[in-house]
Amino acid sequence: MAQVFQQPRSGTLFLNGEKISGSDIRDQNVLATQAIANVVKSSLGPVGLDKMLVDDIGDVTVTNDGATILGLLDIEHPAGKILVELAQQQDKEVGDGTTSVVIIAAELLRRANELVKNKIHPTTIISGYRLALREAIKYLTDVMSTKVELLGKNCLISIAKTSMSSKILGSDADFFAKMAVDAIQSVKSTNSRQESRYPVKAVNILKAHGQSSRESMLVKGYAMNCQVASQAMKTRIQNAKIACLDMNLQKVRMAMGVNITIDDPNQLEAIRQRETQMVLEKIQLILKAGANVIFTTKGIDDMCLKTLVEAKVMGVRRCKKEDLRRIAKATGATLISSLSNLEGDEVFEASSLGSAEEVVQERISDDECILVKGTKAFTSASIILRGSNEYQLDEMERSIHDSLSVVKRTLESGVVVPGGGAVETALSIYLENFATTVVRPFIFFTNRVSGLARAASYC
Ligand SMILES: Nc1ncnc2c1ncn2[C@@H]1O[C@H](COP(=O)(O)OP(=O)(O)OP(=O)(O)O)[C@@H](O)[C@H]1O
Ligand SMILES: [Mg+2]
Repeated sequence: MAQVFQQPRSGTLFLNGEKISGSDIRDQNVLATQAIANVVKSSLGPVGLDKMLVDDIGDVTVTNDGATILGLLDIEHPAGKILVELAQQQDKEVGDGTTSVVIIAAELLRRANELVKNKIHPTTIISGYRLALREAIKYLTDVMSTKVELLGKNCLISIAKTSMSSKILGSDADFFAKMAVDAIQSVKSTNSRQESRYPVKAVNILKAHGQSSRESMLVKGYAMNCQVASQAMKTRIQNAKIACLDMNLQKVRMAMGVNITIDDPNQLEAIRQRETQMVLEKIQLILKAGANVIFTTKGIDDMCLKTLVEAKVMGVRRCKKEDLRRIAKATGATLISSLSNLEGDEVFEASSLGSAEEVVQERISDDECILVKGTKAFTSASIILRGSNEYQLDEMERSIHDSLSVVKRTLESGVVVPGGGAVETALSIYLENFATTVVRPFIFFTNRVSGLARAASYC
């Protein structure tokens, strides 16, 4: 390290690398953000178009969702990457508006760059933008927002419809908006501070090929695309006690590379028996705790199936881990990956079991599904989407997710503002007037921001 400092320096730059500063890099960064915004610009709003993205291995995605489009682009420019992260953050926090944030951020940067070129210091510009932001938020909360309780369910349906209007579901918005509102309202829960919460993740979205999109349906309870492991098992269990496992219920096999030398053939038989016995003991522990439904992410072999059928227990194998995590959360179960405790003994606590009013295998559309109804800890709902192909189903899922998130946000915040560009237009007029009331330098910025809001309202 000492050598590095002893090396002759060229200015302040003495490590390997290139230093660009001043207006050059500002222009470059703004140019990069413009390029990113231009990519998604054409997909904004009800007249926006979908994009088809093809990756290296030929996988195709057809989408209108800003975060998905940007996530699939291979962007190297650091400023561009920040915009992509912005869209992703918006997707995570709000769920919708991912295209809008990118376009607005890029436009703000472009206009700020113009101001810097007019010899205005960046800190002044930032203060101006902050002032405009504060005023805009104040105006939105004081003047434009309305309480949701005053507007009722129809308002929620309209909100869901607006968020779908630019998407593949736009033509069937009436049907899907009602479904999204019903779904999110049915997963309402109250936290310890007595606040209502609407977890979007509690709505499971299943995709089934075939039929038209209008055959999609909402089912109460958590639906999984699985079947009972054996035809001899019961397909309906009332007052279910559910064990969620992440382990194999199969005859134990010696690990690869283990060598045991034995002289006596009886010992060989004893080893075989023990191998069989070990898994049966595990099952007995689970059954003794009171389980009557066993879900596992891995396999269940014939020998274990026989034990489960005899005990009149429903067993489902090869469940998705994500599904089991959510079922565990909804029913109050713990996802168990090993029965060993810290002392090295095998135990299965009854407290690890979740409970639900009913677990049933039902034929939904063309497939058999396992439904977990009346979950005890949190309620859950499932939307089964129908569509002609995978691309359509994927895009439908993204659109439904956007609408669910928007309705959730509305219900949790309790207020709405008018949609369809009305807010942007109002803000533009308000900020333009406000600009004339502040001290001289800020007139520039509020004017810029109001101009931007006006531009956004035309999109
Ligand atoms: N009927 C309408 N008339 C005018 N503008 C509309 C209408 N419906 C929606 N908009 C506007 O369209 C924009 C939303 O478009 P879109 O859903 O394509 O993008 P996004 O929500 O920003 O991003 P994404 O949905 O991809 O996450 C919003 O600014 C909204 O005000
Ligand atoms: Mg949207």
